[in-house]
Amino acid sequence: MSSEQYPPQPEAPQQAAIPQASETTEIIVRRVNFDFPPQTSLYAIPKLPRLSLYIAAFSLTMPYLEPYLIRMMLKARNTISDEQLLADMKQFSQQEGNHFRNHARINKIIRSKFDKKTSAELLQIENELKAEYESFLAQKPLAFNLAYAEGFEAMTCAAAMGSANRNVSKGLSSGWDKLIEWHSLEEIEHRTVAYDVYQKLVGSYFYRLKQGLSAQIHYLKYVHKFYAVMLKAQGRRVVPYISMFILGGGYRYLNTLMPWYNPANYKITAAIKRRKEKYSSFAPDHESP
Ligand SMILES: [Fe+2]
Ligand SMILES: [Fe+2]
Repeated sequence: MSSEQYPPQPEAPQQAAIPQASETTEIIVRRVNFDFPPQTSLYAIPKLPRLSLYIAAFSLTMPYLEPYLIRMMLKARNTISDEQLLADMKQFSQQEGNHFRNHARINKIIRSKFDKKTSAELLQIENELKAEYESFLAQKPLAFNLAYAEGFEAMTCAAAMGSANRNVSKGLSSGWDKLIEWHSLEEIEHRTVAYDVYQKLVGSYFYRLKQGLSAQIHYLKYVHKFYAVMLKAQGRRVVPYISMFILGGGYRYLNTLMPWYNPANYKITAAIKRRKEKYSSFAPDHESP
């Protein structure tokens, strides 16, 4: 890879040592194929329809965002020699692959809850997002893409950690409950991968901050586009709000913006371990009694 693909990074040599994790988590690639029957609700949290539409908007981005991350990891792996990191990248991609395939199935339900015009509007935004990520991969430097991945993963993992000690599925409707609980668990499990790849190949804190923030704005703008279309279709007003990712992450989100941030330092609580147990039946080496 040519050096002009990277931002200035005098203090950050390539293949830099990654700060040691205080606690690592095993990344488990579970075989998850949720089935979402037609009666699955549009609302993840029926008591909170606006938040539910925002969650639906997030879901609509997944079949584009997650394949983008996977393709970026495939590009990055050619420049990485660390065997453990290569193995983590592979498992990260397998987990993300399972996520977007399950989201794609619930997304069909989401579109089916709207009229043809709205459904076509949603599909048009999906196509825009897909084209945007394709152009990022084709035209932007790898460092840009890796900072995007790290910005996205840092924001969503902070939100997942914010609810890590709660019963995530409580109050959620059937179908959404397992999807969200399982997806957020795996986001916590693979939280270090995008960060470690960024540290190895780019390393600059200021570039991570600048490009990570602009990635978050780019991503959240697309979530908003989907959200606004669905709100308008229901005759609801679009009012100012703070993204659930930022609110849910809280101080953890702010910590991701600091030079000392390392997702390996998140404490894996007993509640997260219990959730891992709950989903152990999906693990490939699990044997039914
Ligand atoms: Fe994911
Ligand atoms: Fe992820």
